[in-house]
Amino acid sequence: MFHNDLKNLDYKGLLRKISDRGIASCGQPIPSLARIEISGEQYINFASNDYLGLAASPTILEAAKKSLEVFPFGAGASRLLSGGTTFHSELEEVVTRFKKTGAALVFNSGYQANVSCISALAREGDVIFSDELNHASIVDGCRLSRAKKVVYPHGDVDTLSTLMQKERAARKIVISDTIFSMDGDIAPVSGLYTLCESIPDTLLYLDDAHGTGVLGGGHGALAHFNLKPEPWIVQMGTFSKALGSFGAFIAGSREVIDWLVNTARGFIYSTALPACVVAASAAAIGTIENDKSIVERLWRNQRRAMEGIANAGFYIICKDTPIIAVSIGDIAITLAFSEKLRQRHIYAPAIRPPTVKTPRIRVTVSGAHTDEDIEALINAFRAAR
Ligand SMILES: Cc1ncc(COP(=O)(O)O)c(C=O)c1O
Repeated sequence: MFHNDLKNLDYKGLLRKISDRGIASCGQPIPSLARIEISGEQYINFASNDYLGLAASPTILEAAKKSLEVFPFGAGASRLLSGGTTFHSELEEVVTRFKKTGAALVFNSGYQANVSCISALAREGDVIFSDELNHASIVDGCRLSRAKKVVYPHGDVDTLSTLMQKERAARKIVISDTIFSMDGDIAPVSGLYTLCESIPDTLLYLDDAHGTGVLGGGHGALAHFNLKPEPWIVQMGTFSKALGSFGAFIAGSREVIDWLVNTARGFIYSTALPACVVAASAAAIGTIENDKSIVERLWRNQRRAMEGIANAGFYIICKDTPIIAVSIGDIAITLAFSEKLRQRHIYAPAIRPPTVKTPRIRVTVSGAHTDEDIEALINAFRAAR
């Protein structure tokens, strides 16, 4: 039924394939996500969002194990029935304190949080203003809501302001990623904040999936820009990236959280996360609160990798974050470049349309990378030119 469509994608170099990580066929367990084994070959992994190397942290693994001594693995029901545990409410308290908001709510994934919260917050008659490069889960959340959607040019606060003045809706919601996952640039959060503050009945919804654990000493984009988490700001963050765990949270005012508990369909109609996952997420936040050097190490690696690649003569789309998107050429050239990196045991895949408009090699740097890993990355870029 889809044979010709698949052939067509393959012909254009756009066919996606899953490459599952293996279980150390070389006999050695893989110590962190900075290493990856695919089809029996080991690579240095520059394609993981485990920015702080916490996915393999003993503290986090220990927290997960301890919770299994108390609660079964599966949650068995949604939070509103019997699926929640004291670990869930404790994690919400930890997030509330960490983000300095009135309250927080745990979701099963960032995708689920965006889809269900945007459609719950934006009602018929409201207008959503969404950055053109927002994550697919935001796009899907907008599609699902009954509100009018206006897409504004990427990071363009002036045009957004003009577009907002044209709309007469009772309520407006501005939505933006904080770090854009494919270009690696940071949204103009201060400009969005000032604009939203100046227009009554406007919510600012920030997807801090890549900012959590990375920006603002780990506290996220608002802390990075020295901004207060006002009641009209809703922050989404994931436990699945820098925090090395799984799931997501919404942090905001008590009123917003109570509304989501009652209306966010992904929260109401989905089984709760296992307690061990939730316990691991709380331990991850505790870890970065207690040891500032973890986030600092990420930024040290980011600077070295970014400077090394730029000095080798490559064009990096944005140099401000651990997501280093390097423009190489058209789809075929970018795919060939990724393959050349792979021959040198560097795993940094080509990202192609429709995920992005223009192909690029996307390198994500982690604090778990060693100095030698970063050196190998830079040398591989030089050699693959
Ligand atoms: C900006 C952004 N938002 C949301 C998500 C979804 O998060 P999760 O992987 O937890 O579903 C991602 C992850 O790909 C992301 O990059």
